Formats: sequence, C-alpha cells, structure tokens
Amino acid sequence: MRPENPDPVHARAAVRALTASKIRELVNAGLGRKDVLPFWVGEPDEPTPEFIRKAGIASIEAGEVFYSHNLGIPSLRRALAEYLTRLHRSTRVEEIAVTSAGVNALMLVSQLLVAPGDRVVEVVPLWPNLQEIPKILGATVDTVALEFSPQGWRLDLQKLLDALKPGTKALYLNSPNNPTGWTISRDAQRAILEHCRRHGIWIFADDAYERLYYEGSNVAPSFLDLADAGERVVSTNTFSKSWLMTGWRLGWAVLPAALEADMGKLIEYNTSCAPVFVQRAGLAAVTQGEPVIAHTLERFRKARDFLVRELNGIPGVEVASPSGTMYAFFRVRGMTDSLAFCKKLVAEHGLGLAPGAAFGPEGEGYVRWCFAAETPKLAEGVARLRQALGA
Ligand SMILES: Cc1ncc(COP(=O)(O)O)c(C=O)c1O
Repeated sequence: MRPENPDPVHARAAVRALTASKIRELVNAGLGRKDVLPFWVGEPDEPTPEFIRKAGIASIEAGEVFYSHNLGIPSLRRALAEYLTRLHRSTRVEEIAVTSAGVNALMLVSQLLVAPGDRVVEVVPLWPNLQEIPKILGATVDTVALEFSPQGWRLDLQKLLDALKPGTKALYLNSPNNPTGWTISRDAQRAILEHCRRHGIWIFADDAYERLYYEGSNVAPSFLDLADAGERVVSTNTFSKSWLMTGWRLGWAVLPAALEADMGKLIEYNTSCAPVFVQRAGLAAVTQGEPVIAHTLERFRKARDFLVRELNGIPGVEVASPSGTMYAFFRVRGMTDSLAFCKKLVAEHGLGLAPGAAFGPEGEGYVRWCFAAETPKLAEGVARLRQALGA
C-alpha cells in the first residue's frame, strides 16, 4: 500500500538551485504569436545549405542509422584535425572528440575535469549555459565582469588574473562573447596562458563564434594558436553558427590526446555517439563549407552595421559595435528590469529580444538583439523599439 502522504520528490540541491533560462521563459511567453519579430534566440535566419542537408539525407538512405564510434567517425575527426591545423595549429585526430553539439562538448569537458567543490572563473556577462554547467557538477563559479564603453566592451586583465588564484580549477572563456560581442586580444590571451601555466589552471575556451569575427583575418584569436598540444587548454566548438546547423546538434572538443580514452568513456555514458548521419552532414560542412561562412559573415556584417547605427540613433539607447558574434547588447537608460522590459516588448509591441539579466546580474539594464536577419526585418524591429520607448 502507498503511504497517504508520500515524501515529496525533488531533484538534488545543485539542480534545484540552477537558474532556468530567462531567454526560454520569454520565448515561451510569446509562443504561438505569429506577430512577434523574433530576435531573441541566437540562431542564423537561413536554413542549413542544401549540400549539407543532402549529405545527411544520403547517409540515412544508405542505412547509416546505427550506433557508432564514441569519439566520432574517423573521417570527420580527420577533417576537423585538418581544418584546425589550417586555422590554428597542427592538430592530431587523437585530440578531437565529436560531440552532440557545442553545449554537450562543454558538459563533457566539464565532467572530465571539474569536480564537486572546485572553483572556476568566468568572464561575464555570459551565455547562461556556460554559467550553469559547472554548477551542475557541484563547482562554484566566480565571475569577472567586462566593462561597457561605447567604443567596445573591455576586460580588466589584472582583475581576471587576480581572480585566477592558485587552486582555481579552470577559466571558462567565451570569445567572441555571447552576448556582448567582445573578443579577447592576443596580448591578453598570452598573459592569461602564462598565468594559467604557472598555476596549473585549465583554460576552457568556448570558440563557438570564432568564424563570426568581423576584424582582421575573420578568424578570432584562439588559445589554440598559442598553446602546445598537451597543455591544459581545451577548445569547444559547434557546427551551429558557422554552418547554419543549430538543429542538427553537432559540435566538437579539442583536448590533450592523453585524455582521449577518458573522454571516450564519458561520451559512451552520456550519448554514446553523435548520430552518424549528422556527422556526415558535418563532414560536408567542414570540407566544403568555407563559402557558407564567407556569405554568412558578409550578411551579418551588414546587419550589424545597420542595427548598431539605428540603435545608437535612439535617444537613451547605447550600444558598442560587436567585433564578433551575431548580437548587439544594448543599454537602455533608466531600465533596471530587463526581463519585465522584454516581456512588455513582446506583449505590447510584438518584438522578441533577450533580457540582459539572462546573462547574469552583470547583464541587467541591457538587452540582447540577435541581428541574424534581413535589413527590412531589423528596421521594423527598430521601429517597434522606438515606439515602445516613445522615441
Ligand atoms: C557561447 C556559446 N557557446 C556554445 C553554444 C553552443 O551551441 P550548440 O549547442 O548549438 O552547438 C552557443 C549557442 O548559442 C553559444 O552561444
């Protein structure tokens, strides 16, 4: 017989304490509304290119619907090693783990290296998933805030180095950064790497937006350019942004070859492998996808320049032009509750933006706008924002 008042069930404390995504909360509030202009989610506006889709379809039709290698099909691992060798430094197949999206790569490398009670440091504002993943594992997260100026977001390097005290397990650093578009400089990377080497601190570099970078060679500075293979440096990445593949859920991690076997075990116990047909699509993307990146970069550059100009033309609104990503993170004078502000924008003006508070308390007072969209749509969004602000 069941007891009349069974103990209430609950998740473990670390999970209960997680912050639910405020971006999701907002999207759910606007669900089913056809009149909302959606700029809230970080997603390219074009579907995956046909040659990539066809590679996935051909694989399914060829019957590649079974379990596969934990660390990825050999041809994709090889192609990624070649791609990274071209982009950054000589990379071996043994350093590559194919994962079920970038977020899964981050979870896996965290499971691999972060233990309960560990302390990690993050540069914020930051994509919420990166802030919550270490907490799921029982780590504590200390933050160092970027500073806003109309010329661009700025990192106080000394503040970060001071925060990276001996005993710190890892620095999680996303550059180009979601949501601010800030990109770390080569000099800052050198200083951080030196410091972390000295203290045995891991660097987890989230390079998701490295190909959405609007300066120089259009490849953002990466710790992979500086660190030797085998050092305490991990880079995670995704097919989502560079090759317009958000829904496919494919990513990878670059890590010391000495960790290959342990990473394989973790993949086995998390997902066992990324679907083979998705990996085949990824293989097409990484080997033939440079024109996709070039095309996307030019579209987004135009969108960025348009939106930044328009936003800065609204009285009370201030934004720094992002050097990377697909986000404008703007400040609204006098606004102190970004979640309420964004909910109102959805309800009363049909404008879907992401509240700055979703990226940590340091993001309060700001709003994130994903500018992966055509100019007329952005212009309509700006008109709605002006209307909402009475500007
Ligand atoms: C900073 C950052 N890292 C990683 C990802 C992971 O992308 P995905 O899980 O789609 O591969 C995202 C997605 O928005 C992101 O913004």
